Amino acid sequence: MADQKATNITWHGGQIGRAEREKVLGQKGATIWLTGLSGSGKSTVAVAVEAELVNRGRLAYVLDGDNVRHGLNKNLGFSPEDRTENIRRIGEVSKLFTDSGVLVFTSFISPYRADRDQARELFDKGDFIEVYVKADVATCEERDPKGLYKKARAGEIPEFTGISAPYEEPNDPELVVDTAGQTVEESVSTLVSYLVEKGYLS
Ligand code: ADX
Repeated sequence: MADQKATNITWHGGQIGRAEREKVLGQKGATIWLTGLSGSGKSTVAVAVEAELVNRGRLAYVLDGDNVRHGLNKNLGFSPEDRTENIRRIGEVSKLFTDSGVLVFTSFISPYRADRDQARELFDKGDFIEVYVKADVATCEERDPKGLYKKARAGEIPEFTGISAPYEEPNDPELVVDTAGQTVEESVSTLVSYLVEKGYLS
């Protein structure tokens, strides 16, 4: 956990609450936290479900590891400490998005269980939905969409998740999406059905 550094700061509430924003949007905000290996399909599923929801007239937004590391988190690498800080910041950002009423899909490996649990603790119950995007190392390595597994095997990428850095599977995720055994459309449908069933959107 990051220490509180600033002093003399006061929380300033708005005139409008989350419920009013959600009424405008016709949905309940939530963070759908996708976790899984590089190449497991997190970003593919995230952008596909974002498109499906926006095409239905809902507001969804993807926060993606590779993208966020170009800006907000450009000063972070892949050491355990930097990954922890990466996830801490994204937990906070997705909490703000959730309060805005958006359905936010985060797409970060988030390999450490403790970091994901810290993120979950920022949220009220029901606002944080952990989804294990499941595909084993062999499957991800065969896909290798960015050629990173090949580089990692050649020793060109230190601390590469699944090869030379750990990935801790979720113990009790709200959902598991098995991308080795289903199509992108099926994964999208699993997520949308869950959100409808639990009342985030109709
Ligand atoms: S996390 O571990 O801190 O959650 P994040 O999801 O932000 O990772 O970034 C992972 C992406 O960074 C991968 O999809 C891959 O494209 C790239 N990457 C570069 N180096 C590494 C590495 N050592 N381990 C994992 N991913 C890496």
